[in-house]
Amino acid sequence: NDFPEAFEICQKFDISEEQMREIVHRLTKEINMGLAKDTHPRAVVKCFITYVQDLPTGKERGKYLALDLGGTNFRVLLVTLKSESEINIESKSYAISKDLMEGPGKNLFDFIAECLASYCKEMHIEKENLPLGFTFSFPLQQVGINKGIMITWTKGFKCDGVVGKNVVELLQDAINRRGDLKVRIVAILNDTTGTLMSCAFANRNCRIGLIVGTGTNACYVEKTSNTEMFEGYQTSNKPNMIVNCEMGAFGDNGVLDFVRTSYDRAVDKQSINPKRQTFEKCISGMYLGELVRHVVVELMGKGLLFKGLNSQAIQEMWRFNTSYISDIESDAVGVHRQASMVMDQLGIRTNVEKDLECLRYICQTVSTRSAKLTSCALVCLINKMNSKDCSVGIDGGVYRYHPHYHRLLTENMNMLLKGSAKFELIVSEDGSGRGAALIAAVSA
Ligand code: BG6
Ligand code: GLC
Repeated sequence: NDFPEAFEICQKFDISEEQMREIVHRLTKEINMGLAKDTHPRAVVKCFITYVQDLPTGKERGKYLALDLGGTNFRVLLVTLKSESEINIESKSYAISKDLMEGPGKNLFDFIAECLASYCKEMHIEKENLPLGFTFSFPLQQVGINKGIMITWTKGFKCDGVVGKNVVELLQDAINRRGDLKVRIVAILNDTTGTLMSCAFANRNCRIGLIVGTGTNACYVEKTSNTEMFEGYQTSNKPNMIVNCEMGAFGDNGVLDFVRTSYDRAVDKQSINPKRQTFEKCISGMYLGELVRHVVVELMGKGLLFKGLNSQAIQEMWRFNTSYISDIESDAVGVHRQASMVMDQLGIRTNVEKDLECLRYICQTVSTRSAKLTSCALVCLINKMNSKDCSVGIDGGVYRYHPHYHRLLTENMNMLLKGSAKFELIVSEDGSGRGAALIAAVSA
């Protein structure tokens, strides 16, 4: 151990098995508060009902439009469900500028409508009045399958004039203002819901949809009779309801402070939504790189790492992309090719093996904690459903591109479950396309 100080810092990120069990316990409590009518108003983990009560049967067919807002890319998609094995998805991504993400909501929705219109014209479908599923990956109090009131922005968005409004109406108004496009917005959904539906199409045992991407969140299949916020919870003839936990907010009331570090507090402070999305900030892609950067900069400042080297880039907030963590951890043991390339991109030119090994260790520490916390969330949901065997549909850049995330989740979940339940973790393809189309289909 050439870096006792780095080791000491990294130890603060370590979460013991006992602490993990405590986190499962606390999250269960928060979820129950979100579900119950009397505690929902003050609950931190809101557990929004989605009005999606049917999982796909595989028989859904038709042509649908979909919009995907809230992940790395904003996309417009055209999905054709032809048969159980033949689904055609075409899509186009559009860049959303920082100005749009933080400006007036009207500009954002006008831009979305503009992209939609231009895509439909390209595909010659602007007059077809196609049904559209809107994947809107933010906390939404749904009032119906195609009506949702914006609760708060998360991740990098902060647009005025949207909170408290029905987002479907905002989009419909923007489309109407243009007057050159005919579509029917038949459903609004969270990306976790799309992910669950998309996975369930081929995998009937799928009961959880998880995102570990820019943000993090999960939805699961709850008994309708437990979803007290649903007006028909006692009378519905449908046994299930997908619940969007919005678990990124777990910890916003302090219940995770026992595992948080000073680095978490620093990243939280500089974010656009301080004191909010506590769990998300320990887990998701928007923040992991920044946590690593904070540790690296502290060690550099003390002259303990990359001695004699410095750069403006490494000192700049948010410059250490979370994808760098995946790159660095992709190097084989004893190899530091990616690590040295990453540092080079940040203006630190070095081949000093000990330093690069220490960098890898810091990355592993931060990504392992993320995976441990995600494991706690999944185990909590598996226990909540009393499931003995289920599949989890997963999407998001961190899960997809981190070389060890899948293994870390599996190992930690097995450690917590101790054989009490079986599970399968499956990458879910195109939740916001296929998933949105399936929801549009089952709810049309
Ligand atoms: C995509 C889904 O693949 O993953 C989106 O289609 C989702 O709906 C996204 O929001 C999450 O991952 P990331 O890494 O892009 O935030
Ligand atoms: C944020 C959003 C949530 C979304 C998640 C993953 O936590 O609030 O709705 O599901 O990011 O994209």
